[in-house]
Amino acid sequence: MKREIRTTSDGSKTLFISDLNESYHSHHGALQEAKHVFIENGLKLINDCEINILELGFGTGLNVLVTINEFLKTDKNHKINYFTLEKYPINEAEILELGYDELFTDENLKTTYSKIHLTEWEKSVEILPNFTLMKIKCDFHELSTLNLPTVDLVYYDCFGARVQPDLWEHSLFTMVAGKMRAGALLTTYSAKGSVKRILQDLNFRVEKKAGPPGKREMINARKN
Ligand SMILES: C[S@@+](CC[C@H](N)C(=O)[O-])C[C@H]1O[C@@H](n2cnc3c(N)ncnc32)[C@H](O)[C@@H]1O
Repeated sequence: MKREIRTTSDGSKTLFISDLNESYHSHHGALQEAKHVFIENGLKLINDCEINILELGFGTGLNVLVTINEFLKTDKNHKINYFTLEKYPINEAEILELGYDELFTDENLKTTYSKIHLTEWEKSVEILPNFTLMKIKCDFHELSTLNLPTVDLVYYDCFGARVQPDLWEHSLFTMVAGKMRAGALLTTYSAKGSVKRILQDLNFRVEKKAGPPGKREMINARKN
């Protein structure tokens, strides 16, 4: 399916799939959304020294970048192992045109942008000291077959239920829950009532949080 580049309200770019009328990020601000949903209401709520993150949807790599940006601001003695799943990787022209290296002032991040896209799939690569990235090219529905360490934090960043309803159903959340430790956090931009009920049914404590710009609410869920 054809993807085109769009500029969002905070100046950061995103990809838009016109056939689906679906965007990779909020048109109210891709960078702001990523920071709000995955950093402020995700990474910053985890206190462990070593954190295993599982992301559903590597996409443009923006969530990896905001995670590294936050990691660089904090105590370098902690460690992050980032696992991200993606079935339809973006191409080199799109990577260049998105220009995410320009969103960050830290020199480490500028070089990191191309590095995260160039690393081999299915290999754990040290992107920076104490930060490893493993990109896995697969369908989300294959998650239960993957050999991953127990996850502390999940970035649930699938396309919306309007276009991919199967990614917001019980079966995928069951697989994700199966990879998480007790006390682990799942964060998503979605605030759907059906998602809240599925997560509660799977024994998560669900909390509605204020959403990113343009969205009233989002979901945080802790596995019991
Ligand atoms: C909302 S975008 C993710 C945005 C991404 N986190 C970022 O920062 O750019 C959803 C992603 O899921 C991927 N995707 C869609 N269906 C999938 C599937 N069944 N299995 C794996 N990846 C899928 C898409 O290619 C897209 O990259």
